[in-house]
Amino acid sequence: MTGDAIKTMKLYSRVDRVYAQLRHAGIADGDPIPPDLLSRFDQYHYHGTEAVDEGIARLALKPHHRVLDVGSGLGGPARFIAGQAGCRVTALELQADVHEVASRLTERCGLAHLVSHKRGDVLDGAVPPGRFDALFAWLAFLHIPDRERLYRRCREALRPGGGMYVEDYFERGPFTDEERETLAVKVYSRNLPRLDELRRDLGRAGFADIVIEDVTASWTEHVAERAQAYRDNREHEVALHGEQVFAGLDDFYSSIAGLFRAGNLGGVRLLARRP
Ligand SMILES: C[S@@+](CC[C@H](N)C(=O)[O-])C[C@H]1O[C@@H](n2cnc3c(N)ncnc32)[C@H](O)[C@@H]1O
Repeated sequence: MTGDAIKTMKLYSRVDRVYAQLRHAGIADGDPIPPDLLSRFDQYHYHGTEAVDEGIARLALKPHHRVLDVGSGLGGPARFIAGQAGCRVTALELQADVHEVASRLTERCGLAHLVSHKRGDVLDGAVPPGRFDALFAWLAFLHIPDRERLYRRCREALRPGGGMYVEDYFERGPFTDEERETLAVKVYSRNLPRLDELRRDLGRAGFADIVIEDVTASWTEHVAERAQAYRDNREHEVALHGEQVFAGLDDFYSSIAGLFRAGNLGGVRLLARRP
């Protein structure tokens, strides 16, 4: 995957919009950024840094642990993990523009000694095998239809005994044709697993101690509130980013809220270990 096809998902348009958000918060271009201020803007998943705290606790991270964040986006979770747990984190991101903005943000947060950004596709073996004590992925697996290869790559990245923590989508439904189309185009997501398939495929890929938690109820509420809050803030958002960016994100947030509300899209928190 080159990283361009995924741009049908509007969250990934004009990712440099984070700089406008920072300027609005009083941080001029190029100035140092307090990481706790940035964390309002750099988490591309649900429940922000609370969700990352949950991951840190569940994998009992220690400062000596080597961490891999797969599909690291703007680097929000990676920087938060480094800041909270003191670990060294490799942030692996597919899209060139996202990777570049993420690297720059990490430098400006003064965290480049702990977080190293790497551009690449997790399926292509972009990271060295057997190196990591912990692997995280927030809302990245949903973009990767070749689950067999994905899970194998993730297991290989971990050292024996290493743990994986994932938050992602699953097919609770069956999806309608229209939902499949919305997922494919607006979310760049195909081939989401059912929970029984998820457990089976992770077992086949060699994971053990698999724990699967259905978090659909909390995500359904979260995405509904997010969509409403974004729309309520229209004037501010248009002033900051322009009409086109607002329209794209408004459509994206309301489509996600609609998919969860309809009941066929679910959210899962998943833990597993490489034996
Ligand atoms: C919804 S974003 C979440 C970003 C980040 N995990 C967060 O929670 O803030 C998913 C990210 O996964 C990345 N991604 C998708 N497929 C990937 C792949 N095959 N290898 C590496 N990254 C990938 C996307 O480019 C995107 O930035």
